[in-house]
Amino acid sequence: MRLEGKVAIVTGGGSGFGEGIATRFAQEGCQVIVNDINVDGGNRVAQEIKNSGGQAVFCEGNVGSSSDWADLLSCSLDHFGKLDIVVNNAGTTHRNKSMIEVTDEEFDLVYDVNVKGIYYSARNLVPYFRAQGSGNFITIASTSGKRPRPGLVWYSGSKAAAIVSSQAMALELAPDKIRVNVVNPVAGDTPLLAEFMGSDTPEVREKFASVIPLGRFSQPSDIAAACLYFASDEADFITGACIDVDGGRCV
Ligand SMILES: NC(=O)c1ccc[n+]([C@@H]2O[C@H](COP(=O)([O-])OP(=O)(O)OC[C@H]3O[C@@H](n4cnc5c(N)ncnc54)[C@H](O)[C@@H]3O)[C@@H](O)[C@H]2O)c1
Repeated sequence: MRLEGKVAIVTGGGSGFGEGIATRFAQEGCQVIVNDINVDGGNRVAQEIKNSGGQAVFCEGNVGSSSDWADLLSCSLDHFGKLDIVVNNAGTTHRNKSMIEVTDEEFDLVYDVNVKGIYYSARNLVPYFRAQGSGNFITIASTSGKRPRPGLVWYSGSKAAAIVSSQAMALELAPDKIRVNVVNPVAGDTPLLAEFMGSDTPEVREKFASVIPLGRFSQPSDIAAACLYFASDEADFITGACIDVDGGRCV
């Protein structure tokens, strides 16, 4: 039990990587707030964790809303009495297409979720973590933020912003013993994958997988394992780090 006694918020926990992270954290003894805008997905994941003997609560909320972050902190304090870890996992993308075809609305949504969500998490949670004398942020960014592909220009820019903002947070928050680390997944078979690829055919899948040296897409369990390390006390001296969970893609 590597997270016994800890409490975590996992945003976007109702699907894909977030589901994998929330489930693994609960298996390791963590009490988990499963956050999502998708009520069915979030409730399902929280219920499945409870059915397996873990502790979880679903808390609906949009990470692009500051007041929803305040509610998330209250939810954690009301149910579990404290908060130790925040996994900023919720994310979205515009579909893979020419950079000049991405609409204002698509651009704004990508930045609201992928970048402003992190900003609001800091605005709402840093004062609490400072008072507590500890805290742990984990950002799920993307290999796109380091090694972009055509067709994902503005998504890639948002993930680069997520990486650098998180590393800058790590520096500013180090005196407060608040750690901030980043996990960069390579393409994974979640509901977002078709958006990243533009179309979902065996040929397109092969094209995306062929540039991953270990020869497969990432899985939620791969991403969860990296997050578990950052969340655990084993990583007590690790902050500002960025792990590429990418089968060698970024080398
Ligand atoms: N799947 C990939 O290939 C891949 C690769 C690199 C990085 N990522 C990143 O991993 C993270 C998780 O994505 P995923 O692939 O598991 O996709 P997913 O669609 O399975 O999960 C994302 C979840 O976030 C939720 N969400 C979206 N907007 C939200 C908001 N405003 N507030 C709260 N929840 C919100 C969605 O409802 C969904 O449940 C994202 O940040 C994504 O950018 C994914």
